[in-house]
Amino acid sequence: MNKILVIGAGGQLGTELTKALVDTYGSDSVIATDFQESAKSIFTYCHFACLNVLDKEAVAHLIQEEQVTQIYHLAAILSANGEKNPIHAWDINMQGLLHVLELAREYKIEKVFWPSSIAVFGPNTPKSNTPQDAVKNPTTVYGISKLAGEHWCDYYFNTYGVDVRSLRFPGLIGYKSFPGGGTTDYAVDIYYKAVQGENFTCFLQEDTYLPMMYMEDAVHATLQLMAAPASDISIRTSYNLAGMSFSPSEIAAQITAHYPEFSIQYAPDFRQKIADTWPASIDDSSARKDWGWKAAFDLPAMTTEIITKLPNHLSKK
Ligand code: SER
Repeated sequence: MNKILVIGAGGQLGTELTKALVDTYGSDSVIATDFQESAKSIFTYCHFACLNVLDKEAVAHLIQEEQVTQIYHLAAILSANGEKNPIHAWDINMQGLLHVLELAREYKIEKVFWPSSIAVFGPNTPKSNTPQDAVKNPTTVYGISKLAGEHWCDYYFNTYGVDVRSLRFPGLIGYKSFPGGGTTDYAVDIYYKAVQGENFTCFLQEDTYLPMMYMEDAVHATLQLMAAPASDISIRTSYNLAGMSFSPSEIAAQITAHYPEFSIQYAPDFRQKIADTWPASIDDSSARKDWGWKAAFDLPAMTTEIITKLPNHLSKK
């Protein structure tokens, strides 16, 4: 039987991915963990443990006790928050991954998933349809840690045979969990404001194009990558992954079609500088070719889905 350990399950991706893992593999197969005890309230449907990935002994103990066979290591500090305390962000993002990789080697974990990001790219990267192997010169600690992490994953696969798989996620947009500390997160906040009848002040300029993805696509891509035969995985750093690309003014226009009263103002801050170094769109042909990836949601479809479902979600809170 699979025994799947999710580290950082209480985060934006973890909240939805853990549910999908339980739906796919059964609640007895999944252990949700987070460093915050308060995350327990989310996981009424599977086993939960409080776990700090920096405590390697505690992770090792859980792996042994629960006879873990797969690890999804999601805990990280994102781009904008990382800049506020770079050394701390490096410790969490890098040391956390090294603990997981080392324990995966030691305990012969069958498969590991670890998310990378478009933040590995930088100002010298071609902006449009960014290729898999484009130049990478990240300017944020988050991006530096993701780029180094990609190479550590490749190293553990090549040197020790650890079956670690990774995706370079674009900005992830969902309505079920609130993100924290990312440069793309305006595109989540804007829906919350719109459905609550508020206007929105955006921290990016109106014409800043960034690659984005609806959470359902991100969860689907993760499950698909992890279910693929190992022989189909030709990239052991991390796969480029594309969903959609849009600017703040384009998402605002989509929202205005549903809420004509809605309006957006622009007050760019330090996050503009980060966004300016990232791609506008991504070439994900390797993921398509290797394991059949194809995104289902574009901006209009995502907007309709969120605007239809978010009010009900908020009323249950
Ligand atoms: N969503 C992330 C961020 O903005 C990018 O991977 O930091």
